[in-house]
Amino acid sequence: MITATRLRESIDEMMPGVVADRRHLHEHPELGFHEVGTARFVAERLQALGVEDIQTGIAETGVTGVIRGGQGPGKTVLLRADMDALPIVEENDVPYRSRHDGVMHACGHDGHTAMLLGVARVLTERKEDFAGTVKLLFQPAEEMPPGGAKPMIEAGVLDDPPVDAVFGIHLDQDAPVGKVSLAGGPVMAAADRFTIVIKGKGGHGAKPQTAIDPIAIGSQIVVALQTLISREYDPVATGVVSVCAFLSGSAFNVIPDTAELRGTVRTFTAENRAMLSERIPELVRGIAAAMRAEAEVTYDFGYPASINDPAMTDLVREVVTEVVGAENVIAAEPQMGAEDFSYFLERRPGSFFFIGSNNAARGLTWGHHHPRFDIDEAALAIGIESVAKTALRYLET
Ligand code: NI
Repeated sequence: MITATRLRESIDEMMPGVVADRRHLHEHPELGFHEVGTARFVAERLQALGVEDIQTGIAETGVTGVIRGGQGPGKTVLLRADMDALPIVEENDVPYRSRHDGVMHACGHDGHTAMLLGVARVLTERKEDFAGTVKLLFQPAEEMPPGGAKPMIEAGVLDDPPVDAVFGIHLDQDAPVGKVSLAGGPVMAAADRFTIVIKGKGGHGAKPQTAIDPIAIGSQIVVALQTLISREYDPVATGVVSVCAFLSGSAFNVIPDTAELRGTVRTFTAENRAMLSERIPELVRGIAAAMRAEAEVTYDFGYPASINDPAMTDLVREVVTEVVGAENVIAAEPQMGAEDFSYFLERRPGSFFFIGSNNAARGLTWGHHHPRFDIDEAALAIGIESVAKTALRYLET
């Protein structure tokens, strides 16, 4: 039996090392599928801890390792961290500022990787005390759909040993350090994208009768797309369609030949996702045809929605209540952002939850993907304790 106090004490002792790891990773950020130095760093750390079956190069740069409990065989729990950074120029003036021009850990994945290494240490030190297996997974390219999770799953990371449950966390700059938020059911949306090319007929701006104006047609399409949400979607369900690019023309008196529209679609259920993926092309082609043009529509499915298993989330809630106290456990609202941990949740029961990391008093309030994003590193200890205890609790039950 591992007591809570002893666990917290040993995490507190190892925190300088965890913070140093996080800062090292922050200084050396790498973009998706190029996490070569990061993966090497992770593998070396795991090796030094005595983690078994370390595999590297899964889906380019993914790393896995296994900790087998000394109390015998049992269930297998997978814990996941993402390793990739973003193409952002860091604007923080800190000693651990990014040394890679134009690349920055602006989403906290440096923290996720450092935390999972911390969890690895806590659990290897206690492996004689538990039964079952912990599988550690460090994945590439969460920020780059189609992402690193899917190819890692296709490479077999959920088999051998067969994984029974999956857990993951994200640092949460929208919540103060000390808070943890979670929810059963949908927590993050499915994110799909579309590209529409309207093929009209160019002409003189003063002679529209000789042309087929793709800008006028595109404008109708932008407005009509919004009626899919307002008129065809269940008003109780959540969804969004946004046209985020409208590219056409270059002169004030020339009607162009074509217009290109690009946008994003966010949904939470397979049904609503399927509906929009069918209705967007139908509506676009119909409007284009009615206005004498043609439209090509490409609809790309991105990450599915992240749906937490209620029972696994209850287990996490029990654990994090012990870690931060009931008053600091918040019900997570579904977010319209997407996350490829969803692929794990599609295949195994599990839960993805959020570790508060902002600190207004210290000015650490910039959001994810901002050039000044930075976290209160005290969040890392909370993340490590929450994840390590979740794994142990799951293996016990
Ligand atoms: Ni992220």
